[in-house]
Parts: sequence; structure tokens; C-alpha cells
Amino acid sequence: MIPRAQLLAAADRFGTPLYVYDAAELDAALERVRAAFGDARVFYAMKANPNLTLLRRMQAAGVGFECVSAGEIARAEQVGAGGDGVLVNGPAKSVEEYAAGARLGATFIVDRAEEVGLLPPGSRALVRVNPALSVSTHDHLATGAAGSKFGVTPGQVPGVLAALGKAGHDARGLHVHIGSAIRNAADFSAAFARLAELHGQTGDLEVLDVGGGWGVDADLPGIAREARAAASVFGAALWVEPGRYLVARAGTLLTRAVGTKRTGRNFLLTDAGMTELLRPMLYGAQHPVTALWDGEAREVWDVAGPACESGDLLARDVALPEPAPGALLAVGEAGAYGASMSSTYLTRPRPAEALWDGQEWTLIRRRETPQDVWAAEVEVVGS
Ligand SMILES: Cc1ncc(COP(=O)(O)O)c(C=O)c1O
Repeated sequence: MIPRAQLLAAADRFGTPLYVYDAAELDAALERVRAAFGDARVFYAMKANPNLTLLRRMQAAGVGFECVSAGEIARAEQVGAGGDGVLVNGPAKSVEEYAAGARLGATFIVDRAEEVGLLPPGSRALVRVNPALSVSTHDHLATGAAGSKFGVTPGQVPGVLAALGKAGHDARGLHVHIGSAIRNAADFSAAFARLAELHGQTGDLEVLDVGGGWGVDADLPGIAREARAAASVFGAALWVEPGRYLVARAGTLLTRAVGTKRTGRNFLLTDAGMTELLRPMLYGAQHPVTALWDGEAREVWDVAGPACESGDLLARDVALPEPAPGALLAVGEAGAYGASMSSTYLTRPRPAEALWDGQEWTLIRRRETPQDVWAAEVEVVGS
């Protein structure tokens, strides 16, 4: 955990809003994954947080990358990843994404039957299965439900595998990812069991990729046991694709109190909001909010951002000591889908990011400027 004095120092030095990451917790999360999953191949779903410094740390630790856009593939290349260390995924890959993936020698995750005809010649491929299960997470985070747009139906799997082979591709196995921030371990068991049922139609496979989606307090050994059991049915190597689990706890959003307002509810207004951390607004995500000042918490506060949007709330009903303007708050578990989903809506430059290695701070993303935000615009004067 980053000491409070260091959080205060970072906010003073780099300004707020500021994302900070604890290197020790990044390492510990990867250690927990490796301890639970043994020799399973780990691919980091970089959508969770694609900062190049974090990617370089993962690359150095032997972690591969799951990429879902040409930009993410370019990031993998930038940090020296390639070959079977890169997965290219997504329900609607572009021509550029197929070409970039092929250039790196990546493995493609086939999401629909038509993709067989779109893959670059001789591609390595896994077939994504939609197990048609409802899972314990927000609807927008569920990707393995019957009505979701992801993957092929279990009934289509044998046909897609056969078509891949016939087209000269290397069909290596199956893939499943049922959603994100999943709290109930039974959801994973059900999905893995549905995959295992397919063995009668597919025979043995080289790879079973069971995706990610683990909540930060998930029972990893339990999930790993079930995943290994499914992989052994196919005689397959086990691959995993955690995003959130690897980075969420390591990240904290630091924000300063701007002022208060009492309207029947107590609002604590902060300099960070939906543009820096969208998750509470997007899917009602709950992040722990801690006051970095002393005092007794006598009231509860709604922590609200500066955007002109009623939904711009970071948290509701947080017990905090009386806040003074400039007081610093730490929004926890913000390392995943925090900075990566931050936006420049309202021409709010995206925040800086800094890494704490136990000794010192390193700036790993400078704060944007308004000029950065409009840099790509073509300013036609007098039109
Ligand atoms: C295919 C796939 N794999 C892995 C992940 C990572 O999920 P999480 O960050 O919940 O572990 C995602 C997230 O959307 C995904 O779509």
C-alpha cells in the first residue's frame, strides 16, 4: 500500500486528478494469478489499463497481451511483444486489425463463422464460444449471455473448427469469456462445464483459453481448479486473459475537494468525475473512497464530479470527516478501466499517471493540455 504521506506528496507534485499505481501490488496480483493457475499462459487484457510502462513491466514478467483494436496491437508491438505472445480479439475486427495481427504473428480469436474467410492465410486461431449463460454482473459487463453479441453458439463450434482447418488455418482450440467483475464463482464453473461438454464433438484440442472476468476478491484457486479440469478434458494447455484482476487494486484516483453543497443531500464536489472515472456512471461500479485528512466521520456524502451531468457521481453515501476545499480523497480499486476509459468530454484534459515503486514516484503519463485535446482538429478559419 502506498503510504498516505506519499499520496499527498504525489498530488502536490503532479497535480490532481491523478492516477497512481503501486508497483508492489501489481507484482503481487500477478504472483497470485501464477500461484493459482500454475503453468497456465497469462495474457493481460490490456483494455483494463494500456499504459506503456505497465505493459513493459508485464512483458518483462513474461505475460502476453490480449488486444482488441489496431491501437492495442500497436501498443503490444511498441513494447516488443509478438508471435504467440499476442492475441487479437473482437467481434468486428477491421482489415487493419487482421493485417497488424498477421504482421506480429498473433493468434486470432474467431468470434463468428464469417471470420474464417477474413483471416490472413495460415492464421493461428481459437474459436470463441458463447455458452449462453446469465452471470452475476451488470448487464453491460456480461458477454456470455444468450442475447450477447459475442462468440459462436456451442452448436456452431464443430463447423467453425472444421472450416478453419479446410481453409488452411491452424485451429488450436476454444475460447470463452463470460464477462467482467463477476462475483459468483459458480458462473465460471458453469461456463467451463459447457465448454467441456463440447469435447464429444471436437475431440482433443491444443488450447483452452478461459478468458478473464475475475473480481478483485475472486477465489482464484477455485476458478483455476475448474479451468484446469475443463482443459484436461481436451488434453489442452490452459490460457487465461485477466485484465481487471491484474491492475485494479494497484490503482488509486487522487482527487481534491473543490467545495460542498447541501441540498437535502450532502454533496462533496471534487475535481475528478465521470471524465476521469466512468465506471460508477457506466455500470454503477462501487469504488472505496477514503479521506486523506483526519477527523471524525459524522455525515455521509455523495462525491460528485464537476461535469454538467446529473449522473456524474463517483460514489454515494460515503462517511467522511467534514471536508475543507483542497482536501484530498483516494478513490480505490481504480487501476482497471479507470485511466483507460477516461475521456476528454468537456475538453477536460486526461489526468496524469504516476507509479510508486516503494522508493520514489515516476510519472508514466503526463497530464494532457487543452491543446492536446484539440490537436487533431482542423481549424478552418472564416468558413
Ligand atoms: C475477451 C476478453 N478477455 C478478457 C477480458 C478481461 O476482463 P477482466 O478485465 O474483467 O478480467 C475481457 C474484458 O472485457 C474480454 O473481453
